[in-house]
Amino acid sequence: MAKLKIENIVKPSIKGIAKYVPGESPDKNSSKFIKLSSNESPFEVPVKNFSSINKILKNSHLYPDGDCLLLKKSIGQRFKLKSNQIICGNGSDDILSIICQAFSREGSEVICSEYGFIYYPIIAKAAGCKVVTARTEQLSVSCKNILMKINKKTKIIFIANPNNPTGSIIFKKELIKFLDKVPSTIIVVLDGAYSEFIKDKSYTDGVDLVNKYKNLIITRTFSKIFGLAGLRLGWGYSNKEIINLMERIRGPFNVNLIAQHIGSLILKDNEFLKKSIDHNEKWRKYLPQKLNELGFKVKTSYTNFVLVEVDKKKHSKEKILNILKKNKIIVRDMKSYNLQNFFRVSIGRDSHMKKFLKVLKSSLDK
Ligand SMILES: Cc1ncc(COP(=O)(O)O)c(C=O)c1O
Repeated sequence: MAKLKIENIVKPSIKGIAKYVPGESPDKNSSKFIKLSSNESPFEVPVKNFSSINKILKNSHLYPDGDCLLLKKSIGQRFKLKSNQIICGNGSDDILSIICQAFSREGSEVICSEYGFIYYPIIAKAAGCKVVTARTEQLSVSCKNILMKINKKTKIIFIANPNNPTGSIIFKKELIKFLDKVPSTIIVVLDGAYSEFIKDKSYTDGVDLVNKYKNLIITRTFSKIFGLAGLRLGWGYSNKEIINLMERIRGPFNVNLIAQHIGSLILKDNEFLKKSIDHNEKWRKYLPQKLNELGFKVKTSYTNFVLVEVDKKKHSKEKILNILKKNKIIVRDMKSYNLQNFFRVSIGRDSHMKKFLKVLKSSLDK
């Protein structure tokens, strides 16, 4: 029998995809690492509030509710949304992937922003599409440049608002102007993974626009402010027709029992939410100021992370990251995002941030 050559049988668009590499994780056996590389919550979830988990675990031999009805009800209540316009997923990654499966096809085009979330091109290519990249303007997502990339083949536009890794946002006025110009046959995905961190009234996560723009899909996650990255839970919100379509192709039981249960509970925990928002707000303002004082270039971030530019004439980014690592601090090198002189640091606990700043400062003298 002839030897099987995998590259001969794989879908052509998959050939060029590089595996998604997440923010580096410390070796689980080595203690005391400070992980600031994946924009996770610095706070452990209040396990004491989850005493019902043992009862839930007893039902592990049965499939979970494939429709996530209780969870959808909780999301609906928390965000004042209709639960039949919500779809739940195994992380928002799952929802993003379902969108690509449902609304693109071989040979169609998907528009992503330069310096955008690295998973969008992966799922677009996996669905057989060509990825078209719209240039940013001073590291901010540019609606104008996205609009210029639209053509007859365009099927989906992915925008993270706020954006990862640049931390920039598109304000409501500009977003509406943009949506008015996008043909209604093109799906616009507004990924609000970090939207709960924003207090600014001139920002919208887009849920208020879903009824007006029938081509709009909002995606959200429990991995950031709600501190459940390890459980894998996300959701999408759109008009009923779009959601029904997505429901038809999702995995039959794509959200596990525990994630459904804990997800519903954490949404009701206002104390945890407030603590997370207040903590983030404090460091989101203070950290760029401190980093700028140290001679780095840092733009305003609307998220729980900051993108830092190292002046390569003065310092070596590699040396800085090595010194941080030697001191058990892990940040994200942005080279895989094509941002050669940059690294990204998530907002950790007070003690984490103090140590990060101290080690960073000392690294500049070495
Ligand atoms: C913009 C953006 N969207 C989606 C995700 C994925 O989130 P989830 O953990 O829900 O899959 C991330 C994770 O970092 C992100 O930055």
